[in-house]
This record gives sequence, C-alpha cells and structure tokens, in this order.
Amino acid sequence: MQDERRHLRIPGPTPVPPKVTRAASRPIFNHRGPVFHRLHGQVTAGLKRVFQTDGHVALLTGSGTAAMEAAVANMVSPGDKVLVLVGGVFGGRWAKIARAFGARVIEYGYPWNEGADPGRVAEYLAQHPDIAAVFATHNESSTGVINDIEALAKAREAAGGHQALLVVDSVSGLGGAPLQMDEWGVDVVVTGSQKCLMVPPGLAFVAWGARADQRVEQTSNHRFYFDLRAYKGSAERGETPYTPAVSLVAALAEALEMLEEEGLEAAFARHRLMRDMVRAAMKALELPLFADDRWASPTVTSVKAPEGMDADRFRAVVRDSFGVELAGGQGELKGRLFRIGHMGWAGPLDMVAAVAAVEQGLKAVGAPVRMGAGVAAAQEVWAAWR
Ligand SMILES: Cc1ncc(COP(=O)(O)O)c(C=O)c1O
Repeated sequence: MQDERRHLRIPGPTPVPPKVTRAASRPIFNHRGPVFHRLHGQVTAGLKRVFQTDGHVALLTGSGTAAMEAAVANMVSPGDKVLVLVGGVFGGRWAKIARAFGARVIEYGYPWNEGADPGRVAEYLAQHPDIAAVFATHNESSTGVINDIEALAKAREAAGGHQALLVVDSVSGLGGAPLQMDEWGVDVVVTGSQKCLMVPPGLAFVAWGARADQRVEQTSNHRFYFDLRAYKGSAERGETPYTPAVSLVAALAEALEMLEEEGLEAAFARHRLMRDMVRAAMKALELPLFADDRWASPTVTSVKAPEGMDADRFRAVVRDSFGVELAGGQGELKGRLFRIGHMGWAGPLDMVAAVAAVEQGLKAVGAPVRMGAGVAAAQEVWAAWR
C-alpha cells in the first residue's frame, strides 16, 4: 500500500487538505514585511472566531505542549496552589508541567471513561479558597472522553464565586467541538495546529481573556520564549516576537478560510456524525467502547480490544494490509485499546472506509466478525443524518 493512499485515522496529526499543503509550499516571505503583517491579522482574527473570544491570541512555534507550557508559565507563580483535573494522559501532563513550574498541585483524578464532575470541582474550590487556577482538558485524546467545560466553568459560582482562573487544553477539541471561551467564562484556552485545524504540526496557540491578562502581568515565574507579554506587544505590529514558521502560518490562513466556509456549527455537526457512525459500527461489531455514550468525544473514539486480541498487532495488520492507520492506547491503556481518530479533514465516507478496514483486520487476525455489520450500521447513521 502506498503511503500517500494511507488513511490516517489517528487523533493527530491529521490529514491536511491539498490546498492547505499548497499554501505551505509558497515561496518563503519576510516575517517582518507586509505579507506577513496581513497574514498575521487574518489568522489572528480567524482564530479568535474559532476560540470564540475577544481576548488575546498568541501564535507560538511549537507543538500543543508548548502552548500548555506557555499557559502554565504565564498563569502560575512558584508556590501557587492549582487544581488539576486528571482523567487521562493529557490531564496528567498539565500536572507535570505545573509541578515543573513550582506549583503546589492538587490532583482531582476522575475515572478515565467519564468526564470530570463539576460538583467535585466545586467542592475542591470551596475547600481551598486560595486555588489560583484550575487546569482541565476539553477533549481527552487518550481516552476519547469530552468534558463539559461550560459546567466546569460554573463550578466557580457554585463555590461562592471563586476567583480561580480556568485554563483549558483544547488541543484535540477546538474546531471540532463547541467551546465558547468568553461566553462560558473560560480564561485561557490552548490548542495546536495539527488536529481539528487541518494544518501540519508545528504551530500552537494560546488564547487568553482580560482576567488572565492581569495574571500574565503579575506572574513571577521564569519565562522567555513563551512570555505572553512579548507576543501581545508584537501582535500590535502584526508580528510575533521571534521568527515564526511562516509556511505554516500561510497554511493556517487557508485552513481557517475552509473552516469558515463550512461554518463552525456545521463542522461540529460533521464531527458528531463521524462519532455516531463509528460508535454504531463498533457496537454492531460487538467491540466494547471505552467511553460512556454520555462522554463520547466527537473527535476520537477508543475501542477496547476483545479478550485475547493484541490491540497493537491488530493495528499493524489494519495499517499494513488494509491501509488505515489507527492509534494505540496511551499510558495505562497501552496495548488494551485502539483509537479511531475522526477529526479535522475527514467526513462520513472516510468513516465507512475505516470501519471496513477494521472488519478486514478482525477477520485477518482470526477474531470473530460479521463482515459488513459495522459498515451497515455506519451507513444507517449516515443515511438518517439531518
Ligand atoms: C488533548 C491533548 N493535549 C495535548 C496534546 C499535546 O500536543 P503535542 O503532542 O502537539 O505537544 C495532545 C496531543 O496529542 C492532545 O491530544
């Protein structure tokens, strides 16, 4: 199977539309000249519409973790108490970064197949009036669980109007699942280019509102490359403080235009359709789903490997013999499940292909399978859509 025909069905990086790739291959231009100034204005405005914020947006060169680190370095001072919601690998990453920057971390660990409970968050906040920030994960890619960020934001009211900032990792959610940053009172959101935004890996974004901006000015932590004050200053001139990945910024402008043409709500609906097709298919194939329906992510689905099946060998067969690349389990879920990514530049027809390859893979490894049952279930969901 040729590489270029392979279906990349992992939760990022995701396939890039040809016109976005073409935009990235335009001749290099000056990052201190009018072409970049125009692009910077265009992508910043476009990103604000996706983040649904009137706040600040910083364009960082790096992966999603760079944006997470920037958020911690700018929102937390050494010795600050923070609450971190951990329901998977990426919640765990918030805790690791916060500790690296000297925070006193309280971890609220919730079951990996469910979302965090806003009531528990309110209890933690009521118990600890000095919590400076709450760190949450919008879409936990390691488990396929999406959190109710709106409800988590309200936990501060339930705790008597607690002043903690809410900082959200939406690396695998933004652009694929609703997140109304300003409306819901989220103070900081971070994301990366290589997931729902349909751009190659290499750019990361931090959006922050007025309350978070005050914190940026007051924080005493070490920061230099990721000092958001520098990004804010340069943005006024349509620039970034250091040389940005100009090719990726050109690609981003194209991708944001595509997203805008489709419409955010339509993009969310497309992701929900893909989720529903995949989940119906896995149920029809009698493969257990990891996340409960109530918490099912619209961008990635985790499937438990049936008893006796080696999930990683199965994935290798699906990749090498049938041309569909699935992701494996992470952290404590390694080897126990496979994940089907359905984010970014993907649609219902891609899900039919992915399910067909899963069926072929099951047959090839000798697992019991009713050929066509998954595809039929996915097709029915698609047919009933709208
Ligand atoms: C939810 C989530 N957070 C953070 C990250 C880290 O992003 P990166 O690998 O781009 O540093 C990822 C990447 O998979 C993710 O899915």
